[in-house]
Amino acid sequence: MAVLEATRTRLALELARAREESQRLFSILHPSVLYERPIAERHRVVFYIGHLEAFDYIQICREGLGQKSRQPQLDALFQAGIDPDSTSLPSDTPADWPALPQVTEYVEQARREVDDALDTAPEQSVFMALEHRLMHLETLAYMFHNFRLSAKIAPFEFREEVSLPYIAKRNEMCEIPPGQAMLGKPRDDQFGWDNEYEQDSRFVAGFRIQQHKVTNGEYLRFVEAGAALPHFWTRRGDRLYQRGMFSDIPLPLDWPVYVTQREATAYAAWLGMALPTEAQFDRAGYGDARPELRPFPWGDAEPQAQHGNFDFRRWEPESVYAAPAGASEFGVGQLVGNGWEWTSSVFEPFEGFLPSPSYPGYSANFFDGQHYVMKGGSPRTASRLLRRSFRNWFRAEYPYVYAGFRCVEN
Ligand SMILES: [Fe+2]
Repeated sequence: MAVLEATRTRLALELARAREESQRLFSILHPSVLYERPIAERHRVVFYIGHLEAFDYIQICREGLGQKSRQPQLDALFQAGIDPDSTSLPSDTPADWPALPQVTEYVEQARREVDDALDTAPEQSVFMALEHRLMHLETLAYMFHNFRLSAKIAPFEFREEVSLPYIAKRNEMCEIPPGQAMLGKPRDDQFGWDNEYEQDSRFVAGFRIQQHKVTNGEYLRFVEAGAALPHFWTRRGDRLYQRGMFSDIPLPLDWPVYVTQREATAYAAWLGMALPTEAQFDRAGYGDARPELRPFPWGDAEPQAQHGNFDFRRWEPESVYAAPAGASEFGVGQLVGNGWEWTSSVFEPFEGFLPSPSYPGYSANFFDGQHYVMKGGSPRTASRLLRRSFRNWFRAEYPYVYAGFRCVEN
């Protein structure tokens, strides 16, 4: 009982922190842009203000405890996000959304009801709400990243990024011996999303993988050979810049390049290499060990700043040579943090997949052959989501996410 209560208290605390972090994130926007849509394929910002609370309320109070909604229309309005392809973009107007005071009232009401329910709701529903919010802290960050700079107000502790002198280094290849990859997770008492089940052991032949993520500097040679500029770069006159959250930064050549899966695949092919599969990524990061023995590339220590760039400490990536303490047993650096990594694996269920009863579309809506698995984590990924079995997925040409890659030789 005491253990259960301790978990509850920790969960409530984590949820409170995540709510603070979401308030902080919305506060970097000028109020005047809250009814704008920074990405054509996504909702207007105001949707997300309501969505985070609607989701918590729906999972914890309605699905978890069977409570009857007081505002079913607003619950329905704020219930679900969208992911259309580029031919069926949303066409709603700002006037289709409730005014801000009404949204704020809805948010406060939902929070009160969720707080009252925290002690009695099924633990799974609280975990789901918490991790859902944490994931949105990242997807909202990349959405806001895409707003023009004048739409944003840097937090007072923000420091302007400077590019350091860059010494081009060879991206060495690390040898990964043949062995078992251990994907997914068993149905144990640790929380997981539906797509993480069940545990799936696969033999992977020996291969070689780049020690570091591909840098802006390396990718620049591909651009000079005729490839298009990545979405995160911009050219002014004859100078290149990284489009940062609050300013444009003279292109930092030792940062990981953020590109689409399509661009990553083309770059790898240009070098005569390939993107790693999901199973190869697991081998490079975690070796032969079972997940319970090697939960992180660096071992079993809880994720700390020395292990990499994640958990909201920075808005931008950092050098691919930073955080050597986070490297894997095979010497592969930064497999977790500093940018998700694209794989060549289509997002598919593992054997034994069951859609979550209270959120059946979470993964199943995306098993369409159009989405690819990303692994690892970015500067805006919460520590809680860095577990080995966690999977992220996007369309091959979606350019907005904090995602890079590295290449393998088979
Ligand atoms: Fe959502």
